Amino acid sequence: MKTLCRYGTNRVIHPQGVLPQAASKIDNTMTIYDNELLIKVDTLNIDSASFTQIKQACNANISQMKTMILKIVNDRGKMQNPVTGSGGMLLGYVKEVGKKFPSQPQLNTKIATLVSLSLTPLHIEEIIDINLETDQVKIKGEAILFESGIYTEIPTIMNERVALAALDVAGAPAQVAKLVNQGDTVVIIGAAGKSGILCAYQARKSVGDTGCVIAVVNEPSQITFLENHDICDHIVLADATNAMEVYDKVTNVASTLADVTINVVNVDNTEMGSILITKDDGTVYFFSMATSFTKAALGAEGVKKDVKMLIGNGYTKNHANFTLDLVQNTPRIKQLFEEKYI
Ligand SMILES: NC(=O)c1ccc[n+]([C@@H]2O[C@H](COP(=O)([O-])OP(=O)(O)OC[C@H]3O[C@@H](n4cnc5c(N)ncnc54)[C@H](OP(=O)(O)O)[C@@H]3O)[C@@H](O)[C@H]2O)c1
Repeated sequence: MKTLCRYGTNRVIHPQGVLPQAASKIDNTMTIYDNELLIKVDTLNIDSASFTQIKQACNANISQMKTMILKIVNDRGKMQNPVTGSGGMLLGYVKEVGKKFPSQPQLNTKIATLVSLSLTPLHIEEIIDINLETDQVKIKGEAILFESGIYTEIPTIMNERVALAALDVAGAPAQVAKLVNQGDTVVIIGAAGKSGILCAYQARKSVGDTGCVIAVVNEPSQITFLENHDICDHIVLADATNAMEVYDKVTNVASTLADVTINVVNVDNTEMGSILITKDDGTVYFFSMATSFTKAALGAEGVKKDVKMLIGNGYTKNHANFTLDLVQNTPRIKQLFEEKYI
């Protein structure tokens, strides 16, 4: 009989001694231990960096993408993209609750997990559909939540796909509320994306009348989109991978460098643009899963920038309620999410 571990290390197959997120393979046998929760899975929300990588590798061919996702899950026992290392989260129904699992939700309660798919034992019976626009994958399958795993019930008043989309990036706007102060200049890189919109909205609210929010986007259509929703003070068209272009265009509209820069893109090589536009003693919040620690650390040193750089922890206290509340009670954000995800 295996000793149960609250972090699920008893399910790690390889390499031994690591936690499930760092493991290359975990046991995805769908028989639960006493301290676990079994979920009947309906939808996977694949992390944007991972989904983008899979989509590009498969030339957006859905059949090839299904094969690639199934192979990853079969090889690893979890949906962790080997290239990006990232996962996502899932929507499903409580199927069985171990007697030592910390909470005892009713069977069939609709829940979303708030821990990454990159550590969640998952078995896929069938991929029913992949939505290329929303990164959501409809499946028949099961997953397991460890004793330490967190989840939230999907509010009955919200559409489940809207809630899933918001919860996937729940940490970002909740962190913005903690990092940004009144009067700050804030730059959001990738502002037209899912977390970008939520962060921009929260930043605008936090900076107040004396502050300024600048959006960086990479397509002209995204300028119109953000203008229509009246979320930012300035919108700049720049390729976030081109550090000097970002620097030149942001400093052209801003009266000062940024107090806080939020990086919410889904591609590599955007560290330096974020660092250059941030003032000394300012903060860069790297929520993007495509962030490289090495590029950020050595790059900041290389340009003599004394900036605080935060790894975008997906969790912060009360993040799920904060973000669901933001979407549900802000009519223009709610409408925007409903248009995209329903
Ligand atoms: N830290 C965490 O716990 C956590 C949790 C969830 C997600 N994430 C990560 O957070 C990031 C954002 O997620 P999301 O769901 O908000 O993604 P998203 O909706 O796909 O948004 C990403 C945005 O970045 C833009 N972008 C891509 N390349 C760009 C470039 N070169 N220059 C400027 N903008 C560019 C995209 O524009 P196009 O649409 O034109 O490409 C899109 O608007 C991803 O890296 C994701 O993996 C982190």
